[in-house]
Amino acid sequence: MEIVILPDAAAVGDAAAARIAAVVRREPAAVLGLSTGSSPLGAYAALADRVRRGDVDLSHASAFALDEYVGLPEGSPQGYAETIRREATEPLGLDPARVHVPDGAADDLEAACLDYERRIREAGGVDLQLLGIGSNGHIGFNEPTSSFASRTRIKTLAPRTRADNARFFGGDLDAVPLHCITQGLGTILAAKRLVLVAQGEAKATAIAASVEGPLSAMVPGSALQLHPHATVLLDEAAASRLTLSDYYRFTAAHLPAWQRVD
Ligand code: F6R
Repeated sequence: MEIVILPDAAAVGDAAAARIAAVVRREPAAVLGLSTGSSPLGAYAALADRVRRGDVDLSHASAFALDEYVGLPEGSPQGYAETIRREATEPLGLDPARVHVPDGAADDLEAACLDYERRIREAGGVDLQLLGIGSNGHIGFNEPTSSFASRTRIKTLAPRTRADNARFFGGDLDAVPLHCITQGLGTILAAKRLVLVAQGEAKATAIAASVEGPLSAMVPGSALQLHPHATVLLDEAAASRLTLSDYYRFTAAHLPAWQRVD
């Protein structure tokens, strides 16, 4: 696992954008895995800036969101279909026809989950999956005790996740859905590259447990330890509980030229 400690949240966004741009420059029709919430916003802003400058063109790429709430009215601003359109598809110049979000309004949710897995498979799999992490260690909406082998399915959101996300619903906890569809940990681990971004002290415990703790279903982020190409981009606050931070800084300072991403 590559762990990079950066001075601030803006540097985390820049570093994630650089990694996504590098993948798309190599393969213009790359398949990107997108996440929502606050964590990826800096990456999307930095990537949108690169698109505007002509540094990278995402118009041939495809994208799959990690998750979606179940039961929100169509077009709800808190829904991830709408969030992805607003925060990613439009600013990044993605083709909306190639941007996919699980259907949280489907009559048959189980069929919608299977269909989502099929669409990812038919697209050739995800080349780079961008991830955030919940304060309870979830990735996607794979809450603690999720199976490392899980695929896209319906989950019940943990009370802590609902409390954390109430800020997107005007602070109204009752407005936060109880259920979601999320790519499973097995689905996420099948992506060719993982890039997890985390900023702020509130993520420090989950990061330390994911990166340096034992593999545990209680810490879904620890599944990253099973992936051969996982990068974790952290600001100082999110890295503050790591025990080997000196080693990660030493590694970054001595990175061979062939490993650098600009
Ligand atoms: C969102 C997602 C979640 C978030 C996590 C952190 O698509 O999959 O795992 O990344 O809940 O959320 P923020 O970034 O809002 O702290």
